[in-house]
This record gives sequence, C-alpha cells and structure tokens, in this order.
Amino acid sequence: MIFENILVNQHENLAIITINRPSKLNALNKNTIAELHKAFKILDADKLVKVIVVTGSGEKAFVAGADISEFANFNIVEGTELARKGQELLFDLVQNLNTPVIAAVNGFALGGGLELAMAAHFRVASSNAKMGLPEVSLGLIPGYGGTQRLPQLVGKGKAMEMIMTAEMISATEAKECGLVNYVVEQADLLPLCEKLARKITRNSSAAIAAAIKAVNANYTNCVNGFGVEIEQFGISFGTDDFKEGTTAFLEKRKPDFD
Ligand code: COA
Repeated sequence: MIFENILVNQHENLAIITINRPSKLNALNKNTIAELHKAFKILDADKLVKVIVVTGSGEKAFVAGADISEFANFNIVEGTELARKGQELLFDLVQNLNTPVIAAVNGFALGGGLELAMAAHFRVASSNAKMGLPEVSLGLIPGYGGTQRLPQLVGKGKAMEMIMTAEMISATEAKECGLVNYVVEQADLLPLCEKLARKITRNSSAAIAAAIKAVNANYTNCVNGFGVEIEQFGISFGTDDFKEGTTAFLEKRKPDFD
C-alpha cells in the first residue's frame, strides 16, 4: 500500500500504520485522514491481519493534533462538517473495527492525536509521551470525539480538568488515570505492542470482533449493552472458532483458529 502521509507495514498477523508527517509533528490534515480511512478499511478486510498498531513517525510526536493551518479560516458550517466527516471517516471507524487496534503513543498526542489514540481499543505509551486536549486554547472544543471518549476513559472530573486547562499530562499521569495501559521506554514501545499482539492473535478473531461490539455498546447512546452481549454471545455459538475452541479444550490441545 503506497500513501503520501502514512506508512503501512505488515508482518505476519500484525499491521503497523505509521503516520508520517514528522515535519508537522504528524498533524492530521484532510489527506492523512483520508489515507488512514483507506488503510484501516483495507487492513480490517484482510483476514491475515489480526492486530493493527497505529503510531507516529519520529521520536517526538504520535500526532500533534488536527492540522490547524487547514481550518484556521473555517466558518460554522465548515467547522461542523470537519468534525462530522472526521468522526465518520476515522474516529468512529477505528473504534468500531472488527480488528483490534492498539495506539502506540510515541510522543505528543494532542487534540486529534489523543482523540485518535482514544478511538483505538487500547493505548500503550512511551515515557516521553505527553497527552492533552488543548482545543480551548484555540477557542475551540475537541471535535473528533474527545469530549465523549476522554470522560469514558478517565472519568468526568479528570476529563473536565484536562479539557478546561488545555494542559498536557505526562505518560505516567496518563497511566495513573487509566488513559494508557502501559508506559515503557521508547525503544520498547513497538516490541511491547508486538508482544501484546501475539497474545491477542492466539485467540479467536471472530470472538474478539464480537467482544469489541459488545464493549462498545456500553458507550453507545440508546443501545442496551447487555442486549448486545447476549446477541453476540449467541452468534458465537454458530462460528467455526467456537467449535474449534471448545473441541481443542476437550481434546487437551491448543486451538488452531483461522
Ligand atoms: N497543526 C499544524 N501544524 C502543526 C501542528 C498542528 N496541530 N502541531 C505542530 N505543527 C507544526 C508547527 O507549525 C511546526 O511547523 P513549521 O516548522 O512549519 O513552523 C512543526 O509542526 C513543529 O512544531 P513546533 O511547534 O515548532 O514544535 P515545538 O516542539 O516547539 O512544539 C507542540 C510542539 C506540540 C507543543 C506544538 O507544536 C503545538 O502546540 N502544536 C499544536 C498542538 C495543538 O494545539 N493541537 C490541537 C489542534 S486542534
């Protein structure tokens, strides 16, 4: 896959998407969002790909936000469209992918960058990473899901503080408040993601996709998460992975999922 602003590498069951605009600290412009949309769609449809890691190029930034130079002259209608399109094309897409997505936060994750990391299914950070939603310092609010996903991850009070102060928190603080699962040295970031990916890959992709749907349902307005869990639990009984998983257990061997 050849893109202008992202790199896509695939090794066995793991795909790594690297946002590659280091001179702009990997800021998300329109083209980068379109490319990410395309790459996530293609990788999600590829049965060989069991885990996707998204990270930023260079040692300084994951993503330093939406590209401010692109929207500085926008009016109300254009601003509304920017948020709506971005949420549809990228942030909601990532959250609802069947394939697990890990954000490897390798530096600044600000505004749209933190929003992208939060749309991923979970996050791992390097010790130099800094995270925040600085939009109110620009006279804006987060528009790519930040006002919704940050409180879900860190609680309402902490989210309000981060949004209102527009300040960054360190990787260690992010771990303390549940925003990231692990903090490691930068050199260990991708190896840890690969290790986590290997653990995930051992399990049923069909069951993982169903679990993503059920967990996400808890965070979707007007959807009964318990109902979705019952439905997805039931559907699992019709899969080949269910037959293989239970048969392997009873035969005292490791399951061999597709
Ligand atoms: N949009 C567009 N360009 C951005 C950007 C963004 N969100 N974040 C960084 N850049 C660009 C800078 O304009 C600069 O480009 P230039 O060299 O052509 O002038 C380049 O990336 C390097 O950034 P710089 O600010 O010089 O690096 P720094 O180390 O001094 O500061 C940050 C790093 C992250 C603190 C700073 O870049 C910043 O505050 N970025 C904006 C963060 C933000 O508000 N994001 C939310 C957007 S909604």
